[in-house]
Amino acid sequence: MRILAIGDVTSVGGVMHLEKNLWRVRREEKIDFCIVNAENAAGVYSYTPELAERLLLAGADVLSGGNHTMRQRASYGILEENEALLRPINFGGEAPGRGYTVMRVGAVRVMVICAMGNIHIEPTLDAPFAFIERALMREQGNFDLAVLDIHAEATGEKLAVAHAFDGQIAAVFGTHTHVPTADLKILPGGTGYVSDLGMCGESGGILGMDAAGVVKKLRYHLPDRFVPAKGEPKADGVIFDIDEKQAKTVALSRIVF
Ligand SMILES: [Fe+2]
Repeated sequence: MRILAIGDVTSVGGVMHLEKNLWRVRREEKIDFCIVNAENAAGVYSYTPELAERLLLAGADVLSGGNHTMRQRASYGILEENEALLRPINFGGEAPGRGYTVMRVGAVRVMVICAMGNIHIEPTLDAPFAFIERALMREQGNFDLAVLDIHAEATGEKLAVAHAFDGQIAAVFGTHTHVPTADLKILPGGTGYVSDLGMCGESGGILGMDAAGVVKKLRYHLPDRFVPAKGEPKADGVIFDIDEKQAKTVALSRIVF
C-alpha cells in the first residue's frame, strides 16, 4: 500500500494547489490513501467547513490537525460529523471531534491517529504517549495498520514518540514546523519516520507567510496581519510504501509538487 502524507496546508492558495494537482499525483504515483494536515488551510487558524469539503474532494482521504484546530469554532460541527477529520487526540475530553479514525482502503483497515507534542507548543497538552497507547489498545483487532501524524515543534519529541511505537505503528510523520526534513528512515521495528513533512502553500516567505509581517512581529514585537507569501505554491509530502501484511514500512521517499 502506498500512503501519501502532505504537510500543513498554509492558505487557501494551498487548497487550490491541491485541487489542481492532487488527483493527478495520486494517479501518477499510484497512491492508495492520502492524509493532509489541514492545520492552517484558512490562513493561520485551521479550516472552515467549506475548505474541509474542498480538500476532501481534492483527493485527501483524511484531514489531520494540530494546535490551531480548536481555534476555528466554525469547524466544530464538521469535526463532530465527519470521521475523516481529526484533531489531536490529547485535547481534553470536552473537545469536539476525534483524535483517530479507522478507514477501509480496499480490504485493509487503516487507523490514522493525530497527536500533539507538548514541548515549546501552545496549548500545552498532556504528553501524547498514553493517549496513543490507549487508542491502539482500544482498537486492537479493528485495524490492520496504523499511521500517526505527530504535530510538534521539537524534533526530539517527535523521534521519541516514533521510537516508543516502533513496530506498532507503520508510519510516523511529523508536522507543524512547515520545513521539510531530510531524515527519512525506517526504525528497527519497521516504522517509517520523517521529522517533518513540510507544507503546502505559497513558497518564498516564512513558513508560508509573507516575510514582512513575520519580521515586524519578531523584530519589533508589533502585531501584524499575516498574509500568504507571494511565491509559487507547492506541496511537500512523503510517500510511505507499507507492507500491509506485516504493517511495516518497506520504503519511503519525498515528493514535492
Ligand atoms: Fe501547528
